[in-house]
Amino acid sequence: MLADVGDVWLWPEDRAIDRDVLLAEAASAAGIYCMLTDSIDEELLDAATHLRAISQMAVGVDNIDLAACRERGIPVGHTPDVLTETTADTAFGLLIAAARRFREGLTEVTTGRWGPWQPDHLLGVDLHHATLGIIGFGRIGQAIAQRAKGFSMRVLYHQRTRAPEAEAATGAVYADFHELLDRSDHVVVATPLTDETHHLIDRDALSRMRPGASLVNISRGPVVDTHALVEALRSKAIGAAGLDVTDPEPLPGDHPLAALPNAFVLPHLGSSSTATRRAMAVLAARNLVAGLAGHPMPAEATGWVPRPAPRTTS
Ligand code: DGY
Repeated sequence: MLADVGDVWLWPEDRAIDRDVLLAEAASAAGIYCMLTDSIDEELLDAATHLRAISQMAVGVDNIDLAACRERGIPVGHTPDVLTETTADTAFGLLIAAARRFREGLTEVTTGRWGPWQPDHLLGVDLHHATLGIIGFGRIGQAIAQRAKGFSMRVLYHQRTRAPEAEAATGAVYADFHELLDRSDHVVVATPLTDETHHLIDRDALSRMRPGASLVNISRGPVVDTHALVEALRSKAIGAAGLDVTDPEPLPGDHPLAALPNAFVLPHLGSSSTATRRAMAVLAARNLVAGLAGHPMPAEATGWVPRPAPRTTS
């Protein structure tokens, strides 16, 4: 799709692009098709003097300085909707794995320490008929709430503003932040990373969670204070964590979180099914093609306000 509208330069390595290469290539680029590992900041935008459109193959755009793009009249595309259900599936997988102690069970199997069946072996916390608290009730949060119905869970949600239509569709009940933490048996973080949500789950928040409760994070690592989480897991102030995202990311193998038996950590696989990644790739390409042509993108990043006139082609 991109080759049909211009010359495509592709970073050939199977890892995030080197910063100096990105800066050098951006200098002559009309469009950038980027990943969540690429920092699209003032420095890059200043270097990219021909840039007319940016498209990210992800829904979260916390790596992109949206305000700086807006000032320059550069639209930013992202990939909402197409990954909602797959990411909600991952959240449920993490919930079950964390609450029911799958990591400890798997370790017993893979290390040859699977002993006889015992009545009190690796007892976890039920999901069914429990209370699930969802922080961030956008598309993914709501899809998680839909799944919770199948588990006969009570669902509380919290975000800045109430969402009456989503409440009606999912049966979820609005709670203030502290009330949600106090009342939930399991908490899922599904809010975008912003200045406001950075370390939203800090020591205080963790101390308000129920003993035995599970925390799942499928948004961005820095929404949770990693240091505070390690302490809470070590001291059993909370029961378990299921993390698809971490801070830092990738998580070094010798990081304390990687060793904790009650932390079930995945390497940012939330949207990682073949069909969904394909849909994300195509939507991101459609966004870029539209942006380069000066047309509205099929999915322009949210929080977007009318921008100055787009740059003319050069
Ligand atoms: C996103 O899209 O923001 C995810 O983190 C990757 O699917």
